[in-house]
Amino acid sequence: MTRHFLRDDDLTPAEQAEVLALAARMKADRYGFKPLAGPKSVAILFDKHSTRTRVSFTAGVAELGGNPLVVDAGSSQLGRGESVADTARVLERVCAAIVWRTFGQERLEEMAGASSVPVVNALTDQFHPCQILADLQTIQEAKGRLDGVTLAYFGDGANNMAHSYLLGGATAGMHVRIAAPEGYLPDPDVWHRAEEIAKTTGGSVEVTTDPRQAAAGADVLATDTWASMGQEDKDLSVYVPYSLTEDLVALAKPDVSVLHCLPAYRDKEIAASVLDGPHSVVWDEAENRLHAQKALLAWLLER
Ligand code: CP
Ligand code: NVA
Repeated sequence: MTRHFLRDDDLTPAEQAEVLALAARMKADRYGFKPLAGPKSVAILFDKHSTRTRVSFTAGVAELGGNPLVVDAGSSQLGRGESVADTARVLERVCAAIVWRTFGQERLEEMAGASSVPVVNALTDQFHPCQILADLQTIQEAKGRLDGVTLAYFGDGANNMAHSYLLGGATAGMHVRIAAPEGYLPDPDVWHRAEEIAKTTGGSVEVTTDPRQAAAGADVLATDTWASMGQEDKDLSVYVPYSLTEDLVALAKPDVSVLHCLPAYRDKEIAASVLDGPHSVVWDEAENRLHAQKALLAWLLER
């Protein structure tokens, strides 16, 4: 059966560990894996802006011996109203996999439902699971393990990053804390699903409106933009107490690592001194998009 990666919990804990182990091997031997040699083509579709996802998937497919086909909504028939299912039927005839950044998760599910080749979520409004694979690889490198590691996330608790930290972190056996203002807490279905997963992995989930409580003793602090793509007009004042400042860093473990998926808005969701400071691992995190996604594609195509 075709395996897709539409949300973080599409990988079991054992499968997530397999993909991350392969990502570490691919990072150590960057040009040594050619599962797409032929070359096989991978469609990489964007309905929203991107820098990291675009370059990491494009370079990654090429490094695996494949042919990356980047298609923007503005220049495709999908952007002019061709149906998602018809697009899938065409792409599956040409490509070994489909990578898509779009708006609603239901669009991605529709693509996967009509495609006999793997469909990968390159960010939706609900989830950003490829980013979380890269974040997990980065945490593994910094802390030497994932299970039992406490990660605290600050800001918009209802966005794709918060949801993916909940599901992906719980799958990895981590203790995931989300600190967000009332009215911006995670989707209850995602929150409860993460709790269910955490029960099986030894992890835990905590959602709070108190950023100091979330930061206390944490191993990893993470944040994301307050206004995700498509939400540029929203009032951001409610998030100000959740800014990742030196004060929050001081409450965490002395060797805390700081993550941000980028792009970052300095002195908004994160203090410039924290983003550019000694605890920040954001550039490793950005690089690991490449290795984690190469591993994911290779793993999916081996199924
Ligand atoms: N972190 C991330 O997905 O970045 P881009 O929007 O630049 O792809
Ligand atoms: N939450 C952000 C992530 C960007 C990589 C957004 O959706 O815009």
